[in-house]
Amino acid sequence: MDLAAAAVFIFSLLLTASDSAPSLKSRNWDIYSYHMNSTVTSRYAVTVITSRVTNTRDDSNEIDFHVKIPKAAFISKFRMTIDGQTYDGVVKQKEEAQQQYSQAVSRGQSAGLVSSVGRTLEDFKTSVTIAAHSKVTFELTYEELLRRRLGKYELLINAQPGQIVKDFKINVNIYEQPGINFLEVKGSLGEKDLANAITTTRADNQAWVNFYPTHGQQMDCDGCGETGLKGDLKILYDVYRPLSQGDVMEHGGYFAHFFAPANLGRIPKNVVFIIDQSGSMHGKKIAQTREALLKILDDLAEDDYFGLIVFNSQVSPWKHKLLQATQTNLDMAKQFVKGITDGGATNINEAVLKGVEMIQQHPRNGSASILILLTDGDPTSGEINQGKIQSNVREAIGKNFPLYCLGFGFDVNFEFLQKMAQENSGVARRIYEDSDAALQLKGFYEEVATPLLTSVQMSYTGATNLTQTIFSHYYNGSEIVVAGKILDNNIDGFNTDVVAISKHDTVKYSDIKATQAGQLPAVMSGFENFLQRLWACLTVKQLLEKELTLTGEEKEAVKKEALDLSLKYSFVTPLTSMVVTKPEGEDSQVADKPKEGEKPAIHSTMMLPSQPTSSRKRAKSMPRSHSTSSGRSRGFMPGLSGMAFLDSLSAAPPVMYHRSDRHRSIGQGRILHDAVEDYGNLPATIIPARMPVRFLMAAEGQSLPLCFDIPAGHIVKLLQDPASGFSMNGQLMSEGGNGFQKIIIRVNADKYIQFDTNWITIKDGLLMQSVTWTDSDHTSDSMIVIIRDSEADITVENIRVVILLHLQDGKRFLWPAVRKRPSEHEVPGIMGKLPVAYEEVKPSKLRIQGVEVDASSDSAGDYNIKAVPRVKCQLVDLKSALQGELSDFTVHQL
Ligand SMILES: *[C@@H]1O[C@H](CO)[C@@H](O)[C@H](O)[C@H]1NC(C)=O
Ligand SMILES: *[C@@H]1O[C@H](CO)[C@@H](O)[C@H](O)[C@H]1NC(C)=O
Ligand SMILES: *[C@@H]1O[C@H](CO)[C@@H](O)[C@H](O)[C@H]1NC(C)=O
Repeated sequence: MDLAAAAVFIFSLLLTASDSAPSLKSRNWDIYSYHMNSTVTSRYAVTVITSRVTNTRDDSNEIDFHVKIPKAAFISKFRMTIDGQTYDGVVKQKEEAQQQYSQAVSRGQSAGLVSSVGRTLEDFKTSVTIAAHSKVTFELTYEELLRRRLGKYELLINAQPGQIVKDFKINVNIYEQPGINFLEVKGSLGEKDLANAITTTRADNQAWVNFYPTHGQQMDCDGCGETGLKGDLKILYDVYRPLSQGDVMEHGGYFAHFFAPANLGRIPKNVVFIIDQSGSMHGKKIAQTREALLKILDDLAEDDYFGLIVFNSQVSPWKHKLLQATQTNLDMAKQFVKGITDGGATNINEAVLKGVEMIQQHPRNGSASILILLTDGDPTSGEINQGKIQSNVREAIGKNFPLYCLGFGFDVNFEFLQKMAQENSGVARRIYEDSDAALQLKGFYEEVATPLLTSVQMSYTGATNLTQTIFSHYYNGSEIVVAGKILDNNIDGFNTDVVAISKHDTVKYSDIKATQAGQLPAVMSGFENFLQRLWACLTVKQLLEKELTLTGEEKEAVKKEALDLSLKYSFVTPLTSMVVTKPEGEDSQVADKPKEGEKPAIHSTMMLPSQPTSSRKRAKSMPRSHSTSSGRSRGFMPGLSGMAFLDSLSAAPPVMYHRSDRHRSIGQGRILHDAVEDYGNLPATIIPARMPVRFLMAAEGQSLPLCFDIPAGHIVKLLQDPASGFSMNGQLMSEGGNGFQKIIIRVNADKYIQFDTNWITIKDGLLMQSVTWTDSDHTSDSMIVIIRDSEADITVENIRVVILLHLQDGKRFLWPAVRKRPSEHEVPGIMGKLPVAYEEVKPSKLRIQGVEVDASSDSAGDYNIKAVPRVKCQLVDLKSALQGELSDFTVHQL
């Protein structure tokens, strides 16, 4: 690269880094009013977000509407109003909506799709183009049934309008007929100075929370500024329960029974913890698991009995039977827990069956048995057929007690755990890999720590279309909700009975009558059918869970029922999508509900690279800064790399590697040797290389760069900046071939970005979200992430890296391109190397650092550039290129 070109290139980099802050973009419009109004009636929360925006530019402009809503909620309405004209989203069957979407894509239109999952929130994002100085109103409604957890209901409201808003209001109105006995406001929007913006008002059965931050408060709060407020408001409350039998509310021909008796004794537990200790639990996960178990053991009561099983391919119970939670036994168990280490495969089948056996060998009158499985991966040893494991476990448990499944991290097959829990009267929960994982585990345990009733059966006369009525356990702090339709709207013919087993005997609540919700307060107008909607929402949730465990015709029937209800009540559920139609000349968009634990199919969420329409549109509405790297750089940056394998690039059809090619490629004596030698140190999960990955490396004062191969599957150090703590590691494709399957950039202890070919997971302090490779932005104090058309552009302080998602021969892979190094000196990592100087001493011989090495003329694709130009290079062995051993550049953990 000649000097002039380099200078121009770096200049353009600086430009890009500085003008890419999102605040610039949002200055193109003014949000003059932003209201979030939530109404909660008998635990059913309906939230409406209304954002009124003016285009402040002198030409037409694309305006974004981007909000985050609780995962448990269903979107039920979306409307845009422009010049008095309304555009309503329409909920359709998913396939039908998808079809519309694919047609748009195949016409080259950008029918952007809205879906991504974070820990508690999911995104809704759309945009519309409006004329100079005109106005648009966005209105989004979502609904949810608040669940009682550890004695409280929680309403979560997330606000981040992206700018300071003149008229910013959050209004919450709660109406609970039995009366509100406890109310608390938490969350980052309720902290410090902002707490002054909150007013709370309470009457006996109503409460109001208003949050009206001033201009100054929106500007000066922690982490605020030009981009305004950003955070959560959490409203926690509980209701009075004068009657143990619970409250039965009636309204509009529907009823809901809220059952949460508290004046009962604790039932002693028989609990078995089944803990995955396979190799993938290595590091933090196993440490957090130990920490949580130690705390949980401390919380067991003396009349509880407990068992501990750790497993990898071997199943190792601490003791072969349940022991009483005496201090001596607990102390011994803690010693055992402290010694739990990781390694090996995952034999879920045998481990769970052993747990069931231990519980069955310990029958005890007046006790509640509970099985808790914690795993972070798929079954890989013993019985690995998931259907077979499910049926084994189902038969063994025989509906006698619940199995709870905790899935640790994102590598678990969460659906498998959901099915298994669902079939055995339990629930599955995700434990997020995070600094608070031990707390999450402990929190889950607390929810099931105090059983008050077992075998709860609720029966209703004079009612139909009931939701679930049989529950294996009822725990202190939770609530059982049953809803249904009252037959012939005859409230006199309606009553209910509850029968359950408590600590000492059978308890019965008979002939419970319904209370009519009566006259709703004025603010509830428009929510007259809230109990019907509550019923529909709960029914759809339960049908979706049930559907998981069914097959064949039964499954289809349940699915159809859930779909029909979703369509009728206009809920965006995993079976439906909302089609958002826009004014003439703009494309429709489709909003989906992502399923927990399921990554949406890639075809529906990923824009194909270089869509002509979308890039044209972008060019109009956004400064050029947002197109990241493609085609701008000529050649490659010093010390950086691109790769491709042999002639695979010029071969258009899917590449078949012939034996002879392979032989030629890794036949360079020492490289092969390296590869073989190194597998000894690798974790067992890495499959030995079939094809190496080729890296390019700039050479000083030479027209031909060097290139070298690294065997597939390795996890390599890419770039580190010891000064700031920045690091980037990548895992090469395990089946060989092109680039990387995963890359992680760590900014500091609680900030990182992880990339795979489907998802980009951004962890920033308490926030953790996964987004797809379509458009999205994320900005915080020290990090800017801009994702456009299969490129993610990351700026951290003075370092800038672009991760490219390439698609070649039907395979997706990642490639990291370092656009700005942390230092002009050499830093650790393959991409931290400076250009190497070499001399050609004779054909096929180079001198590098005074040593003569073998070389051959070869070529590689430059994967730093989207178009992947083919580059000639001098192929040498890795040691000569990197001036070190492969092991200097590999790590065991991403
Ligand atoms: C939200 O609620 C407040 C207070 O009840 C009301 O004044 C305001 O008009 C509502 N906003 C919208 C957009 O409905
Ligand atoms: C159930 O929880 C409440 C508070 O949430 C507590 O006062 C009560 O003692 C608990 N009951 C038992 C049996 O632990
Ligand atoms: C459990 O209770 C049943 C009846 O309630 C009784 O017949 C049985 O003997 C009891 N078993 C034990 C082990 O106490």
